[in-house]
Amino acid sequence: MSKNLSELPFRKGVEDTLFDKLGRLAQPAGAPSAEEMERLAEEFLVGKANVYGAASFYDFLKEENRGKEVYVCNGTACVCAGTQGKVHETLESHFEADQIGHMTCLGRCHENAAFHYKGQNYSGEDIAYASEIFSGGVIAPDTYSVGHHGPELLTAPDNDLQQFSELLRRALEMGQEPLLDEITRSGLRGRGGAGFPIGLKLDACRQADSDTKFIICNADEGDPGAYSDRYLLEERPLSVLFGMMVAGFVTGAEWGVLYIRAEYPDSVAVIERAIADLHDHGLLGTKILGFPFTYNFKVIKAQGAYICGEETALINSIEGQRPEVRTRPPYPTQAGLFNKPTVVNNVETLAALRSIVDQGGRHYAKIGTARSKGTKLVSLDSFFMRPGIYEVEMGTPLSVIIDELGGGFKAPVKAMQIGGPLGGIVPAEKFGELTLDYEAFQQQGFLLGHASMVCIPETFPMIDYLEHLMDFAQYESCGKCFPCRLGTKRGHELLKRAREGRGAIDRTLFADLLDTLQNGSLCAHGGGIPLPVRNALQYFSKELQPYFN
Ligand SMILES: Cc1cc2nc3c(=O)[nH]c(=O)nc-3n(C[C@H](O)[C@H](O)[C@H](O)COP(=O)(O)O)c2cc1C
Ligand code: SF4
Repeated sequence: MSKNLSELPFRKGVEDTLFDKLGRLAQPAGAPSAEEMERLAEEFLVGKANVYGAASFYDFLKEENRGKEVYVCNGTACVCAGTQGKVHETLESHFEADQIGHMTCLGRCHENAAFHYKGQNYSGEDIAYASEIFSGGVIAPDTYSVGHHGPELLTAPDNDLQQFSELLRRALEMGQEPLLDEITRSGLRGRGGAGFPIGLKLDACRQADSDTKFIICNADEGDPGAYSDRYLLEERPLSVLFGMMVAGFVTGAEWGVLYIRAEYPDSVAVIERAIADLHDHGLLGTKILGFPFTYNFKVIKAQGAYICGEETALINSIEGQRPEVRTRPPYPTQAGLFNKPTVVNNVETLAALRSIVDQGGRHYAKIGTARSKGTKLVSLDSFFMRPGIYEVEMGTPLSVIIDELGGGFKAPVKAMQIGGPLGGIVPAEKFGELTLDYEAFQQQGFLLGHASMVCIPETFPMIDYLEHLMDFAQYESCGKCFPCRLGTKRGHELLKRAREGRGAIDRTLFADLLDTLQNGSLCAHGGGIPLPVRNALQYFSKELQPYFN
């Protein structure tokens, strides 16, 4: 990746970015015009091809998006619930076919039938009021259950501004190193999927020599079925911002950048309000609470690309480059945003810092299991009797989550895909054997990921599920490496053809394809997709038998 392309856009700083401007230019018509992109290229001193290359990557900036008025969710939970055909049909009576687009997961997995219209998300019964919605009527916001099993750390009410200020003062009084030690002692591991210890990441950034550093909150929550980050952004915004400020203080970063997915318009609004509140109370800017600590926030609204959740693609995105994954090293903590040392953490990881600062790292480390510390949010979809967001102590039996928190299933379920599209397909016979922690999932051949739970009902054919999964993988591939760019496409073709009865899949060829994806891909997108496919082949071999030879 060109060093210049990272450093040129930094001339204008993080407050005035090419990516932001592309988003604003796209708003009226659905895509920026060629003339507007040329003007941006001149303004930011980059080539026209760079701007076009970036814009054409995103669902909500590319030319095909021009003229779209309404978007139907095609996330996995909505697909499994079978609600979207009816939504589409209703929308077709209000809009021309080419005015209807798609968004992949609006985070309304708890009630499905989700669609997006003029910056607002709708779901559940809303589609029955389509005429009122399109004539400007107001629809009540969605609701879902929130509960816990074990201590309430993330779901505890947000601090008010007075409490926020007192806790921040306590953090700043501790000093950088003791505070970092406290965080490291907690054993908190990243909640975005990889489970990397946050203490190590903060330390690496702290030790990097640079005047400018960044903390990025990865709020791109792209996993269909996950809406726990949305919950935190909308219901616990001050906890998220607090965690980012603490991370900034221990590393020496003065900017916190929140990269929030476009599919979550309410999250953007709530976070912007919370930042304004912090400003109004003198808790941002320079010499915060009289300490030599400077901190400010920048909110960036993403534009619809799953791969932007991958931390290096996310960094390219903010820089206004085509969001392809970067090779590592260098790691972001060495050379991240604009080539400056950068910490990228998930929303939930950052929000967890509040209780660590408040109650101490040792206290946090006592919660959970030996290697999976603390609590984890899980997202339950509409197949549960009580869909919603639940905070559970790491090590909680899956059966407790399903039966006690979720209230069991509304309809017979043969499997759940847990942890997003790259997470394992866990068959019903394993529900009683698993506990919710990184190790238990790994030992059984699954992946905890971000812990979203998407139910696959007994009536939903597994071949359809795999085709949907591989379609998602090929559509969202950033295209940087061949195994993933071509492999996911060929995999999708094979599955589609088999499902349509146009030819069974050669088992050896398919096994080679999965090996190539797993071993040859540059990042965990291509490298991770074989896991759920293999789970399905193992546990649903009888059902899938007719599609293979
Ligand atoms: C294809 C792909 C998509 C990802 N999407 C997300 C995401 O939406 N949110 C997130 O926090 N991490 C996501 N990640 C993980 C990030 O790359 C990174 O590991 C994470 O943001 C680090 O934060 P954590 O240590 O707090 O988990 C994704 C990774 C891959 C390979
Ligand atoms: S594995 Fe896929 S998403 Fe990851 S770098 Fe390669 S092409 Fe891009």
